[in-house]
Amino acid sequence: MAVQDKLGPEELQQYYATSDGIRLSPGWVGRERSGPPDIEPFQWRWSEVAPLVLKSGEIVTPDRDVERRTMRLATPGLDRGTTHTMVAALQLLLPGECAPAHRHTPTAIRWILTGSGAYTTVEGDKCYMEPGDLILTPSWTWHDHSNEGTDPMIWLDGLDVPFVGYLRAHFYEAFPEDTQPITGVGDSIRKYASGALRPIWGERDLPYSPLWHYKWDRTYEALKGLSELGSDPFDDVAMEFSDPTTGRPVLRSMTCWAQLIRPGIRTKAHRHTSSKVYQVFKGEGYSVISGQRFDWTEGDFFVVPSWAWHEHASSEGTESVLFSIQDTPVMKSMALYREEPYTEHTGHQPITSSFGG
Ligand SMILES: [Fe+2]
Ligand SMILES: [Fe+2]
Repeated sequence: MAVQDKLGPEELQQYYATSDGIRLSPGWVGRERSGPPDIEPFQWRWSEVAPLVLKSGEIVTPDRDVERRTMRLATPGLDRGTTHTMVAALQLLLPGECAPAHRHTPTAIRWILTGSGAYTTVEGDKCYMEPGDLILTPSWTWHDHSNEGTDPMIWLDGLDVPFVGYLRAHFYEAFPEDTQPITGVGDSIRKYASGALRPIWGERDLPYSPLWHYKWDRTYEALKGLSELGSDPFDDVAMEFSDPTTGRPVLRSMTCWAQLIRPGIRTKAHRHTSSKVYQVFKGEGYSVISGQRFDWTEGDFFVVPSWAWHEHASSEGTESVLFSIQDTPVMKSMALYREEPYTEHTGHQPITSSFGG
């Protein structure tokens, strides 16, 4: 559309003043770019993160005021969130402590990093947390965390808070007691973790998986089994945690993946409109994101922004396992998911810089 010059300068100025006065904004003037700020990929090293997370135990205690002792993975350029849709944070719970029961419309996942002897109660179901376990606390489910062991527990919280906040749909409710009554121990596992078998009664068509505890040993066994059968050029041996009753991603807003990058494998690069936060659960290697090399080792975190080229590599002789949260279900449900392979240089990006280098 071409802008015409039929109005003189004064008349034009008057026109804009009048339209502004009644809150009409001409779409042809100073087009605003909509959406959140662009973010660059970023990495956090476990060797730097862990001491600060442990030290936070001397600064605050979870109670009704503090609620949770967490530290956000604060990607530069974002004043909240780790990507524009999701927030990832590290939570510390010391022996004897309880992070009080509540529920909220944002959905959360817990990816357990270190420690033992603590549990999360989800809707009355007591789920003992061990490293590599995935625990879901879906939208509006009651949850609290207690540590009855002798070790500090650290886990990764992943929530869709930025997205839910943008939609103005954030609601919260505190449970009247610090802990909710426990009605079962590992019940969701007993009912739903066998995969192909499920009870003939019980939950159906929930907007999230009724299995909310995925144990590490089963995840790893599944990855190893699949690694003998095949691989994906962009993600090597990757599996998506799914709702055993529907086959869909575990949650409506986020999906979780565990992926095994076999020793010495460098995947090909691609990009997609979904964003991801990764944790290196095991191994050592690097990712190339937007041409930048991120060398990672066990425990590190990194973020892959939307539409950034990325590829992953495991060091020679080292098997790596990456965990990730992704906003893919949101993008797919709104028909906004796009993905494309990098076709130049035999599928690998030229490396132009190194993170932190
Ligand atoms: Fe919560
Ligand atoms: Fe990807």
